[in-house]
Amino acid sequence: MSQVYTIAVVVGSLRKDSINRKVARALVALAPSSLKLNIVEIGDLPLYNEDIDIDSPPAAYTAFRQQISAADGVLFVTPEYNRSVPGVLKNAIDVGSRPYGKSAWGGKPGAVVSASPGAIGGFGANHHLRQSLVFLNVPCMQQPEAYLGNAGTFFDAAGTVSEQTKPFLQTFMNAFAAWVEQHKKV
Ligand code: FNR
Repeated sequence: MSQVYTIAVVVGSLRKDSINRKVARALVALAPSSLKLNIVEIGDLPLYNEDIDIDSPPAAYTAFRQQISAADGVLFVTPEYNRSVPGVLKNAIDVGSRPYGKSAWGGKPGAVVSASPGAIGGFGANHHLRQSLVFLNVPCMQQPEAYLGNAGTFFDAAGTVSEQTKPFLQTFMNAFAAWVEQHKKV
């Protein structure tokens, strides 16, 4: 049997009706059999503070770090807030990056999808996130880029993705599966 890679999916929105969570769910459903995707929740992570991260870090920090550490790769699906990454996602990235020298992110192949009801598709957030991933040593898939503009129109009332949108998401996931295989941490 060929290898199956576990992928941590981190969604940058806490909103109940989040478009990005719908996108993440669609990507999970379209993943090739070589990937097993799990959405890792970030909403209960206290704002990062080194003072509370010394002797006994918050349980939520520890659980999050363990989930990222256990994954073979990471997939970010995020909205754009004020042309950048939502604070809740940046917080999760910071939590996962500490303690110093023990980052949970290092060396794991990754990819970024941004989705917005606006026309630009979260380009600013997508690329600000990539800046952090360079520092965190996450080899990040370059192509296909995924700036999903007008993304509010992609789903029906039940949250099912449209047939028009599916082929691009499928292409993206197939490319990501190849990327994970190519850049897996050994
Ligand atoms: C936004 N939104 C937004 N959209 C965008 O395309 N570029 C932006 O810079 C911003 N800035 C921004 C700031 C803040 C504080 C909020 C709350 C929203 C709109 C955003 O794309 C929209 O609310 C999405 O629906 C958020 O994604 P989810 O929650 O649907 O996944």
